[in-house]
Amino acid sequence: MKNRVRWRLFIATAWLLVSLGSANASDPGPPSGFIASTPTGENSSNELSINLSNDLSIQITKEDLVKYGMRIIFGTEDPLEALKRGEGPIGKGQCALCHKMIAEQQADRAPPLIGLESFDPSELDLALDISIEARSHVRIREERYRMYKEKYASKGEPYSGFRPHAESPGEYLIESLYCPGCYVVYGYGLKGSDDKESSIPGDKSPTMPRINKPPISLNDFEIVAVVAALQSMHTPGDYSKITVLEDWEHYFGKKFSITQLLEEIFNEASRLQDNSESTSPPIAQASDTPEQIVKMMVCFACHKIPGVSIAGTGLIGPLLIMKTNAENRIRSPEYQKAVQAGKAHATSPKEYVIESIIDPAAFIVPGFADDMIKGFGHKFTVNALDRFVDFLLTIGEKEAREAGMDRLPNEKEGSLLQ
Ligand code: HEC
Ligand code: HEC
Repeated sequence: MKNRVRWRLFIATAWLLVSLGSANASDPGPPSGFIASTPTGENSSNELSINLSNDLSIQITKEDLVKYGMRIIFGTEDPLEALKRGEGPIGKGQCALCHKMIAEQQADRAPPLIGLESFDPSELDLALDISIEARSHVRIREERYRMYKEKYASKGEPYSGFRPHAESPGEYLIESLYCPGCYVVYGYGLKGSDDKESSIPGDKSPTMPRINKPPISLNDFEIVAVVAALQSMHTPGDYSKITVLEDWEHYFGKKFSITQLLEEIFNEASRLQDNSESTSPPIAQASDTPEQIVKMMVCFACHKIPGVSIAGTGLIGPLLIMKTNAENRIRSPEYQKAVQAGKAHATSPKEYVIESIIDPAAFIVPGFADDMIKGFGHKFTVNALDRFVDFLLTIGEKEAREAGMDRLPNEKEGSLLQ
């Protein structure tokens, strides 16, 4: 049985990370509603539960998800205001660069995404005058969709490898973003292919880019937020049409989990760092301060670390108090079992902390899952790791109390603060 601990809105760090994934000037940053706040109304249908790790889930409201999606699409929650100021309402998703998404906007490179909410279901051939939410209900029933489904059933669509298989309207929207070629809107395809293939870069007709790939590179969470916005854009204040989380999970056949996302973002961030021309080193150096390392290596996304200001909210891993924990861990029967199994090898606190960082799977702290990001072994110089571990070993229970920080409820040692 899973011990399900529920956290509400405590996910500021994850969003910090989401922004970290894209060093983009128009980055929307963490949506205001996600910062820790007091619970409002138990289990209201306006709430979504997102898996944070095997044992944790967070609650966010559909309203906040939509706001976040709007900011990714338009760069603001209020695109009309932006238009009035003479700014193109273009966020990092860049959708409105090609698609008409609000009546006042000029854009005709791609099918409009706005339109009528109600329509006559018998007149659905070229249903470009209905809203994208209404259209998504129609698309999956079209002969044209079946044609693509058959066409790519064995080999998959050439750019994404996806086999079109949307079963619900929300799944159609999701598929459109990850695999635009899985269904090409009539009139918007590669010239000469009878619109059966999506146009290719350099072709005269604009191509719908794969939204999860460069240059737009939205991550899964951002895409979910964008779809939530598409599902509710035409019915402001009514969030009943938002089914995107179930749709995503059904479409991909797996749980939507933020941990997985953190890992992707981390890899992406390291990749960007590795490729960047900037002088910032791709790995932690001995001259970096502990605070810089915690930030650079995103430890703060998962761990609270007393005395390190950026690391005040992580909830995925244990409170990092190694001065207290390291020794106790080694002595624990669970650790000794891992030693006998040949997995864990530490005999001193310092070895324990190093092992935890470079080989997190060697021993899983009781109450937690194997959720720590791997690959830190290649991200430190030997001296940097040495100094950083010494620093972590100076922080214990006392420092945590002074910082007003406590263990997580799933740490079996219990609270520090009573
Ligand atoms: C560079 C131009 C461009 C950008 C940027 C772009 N699209 Fe598109 N989009 C297109 C074109 C062209 C099509 C039609 C061809 C196709 O179906 O692949 C399309 C098709 C779609 C469809 C299917 C429409 C239908 O009638 O079934 C959806 C949904 C969609 N885009 C959503 C988005 C969203 C959301 C974004 C932003 C995250 C976005 N697009 C960004 C060009 C673009
Ligand atoms: C994606 C989340 C995540 C990130 C990022 C992460 N950790 Fe962890 N960490 C965990 C989890 C979950 C555990 C407990 C499970 C385990 O033992 O592997 C853990 C365990 C640890 C432990 C053992 C703690 C104890 O009480 O025994 C140490 C030390 C540690 N992490 C240090 C770090 C450092 C340093 C960084 C950054 C370089 C980091 N972690 C980054 C999730 C994370």
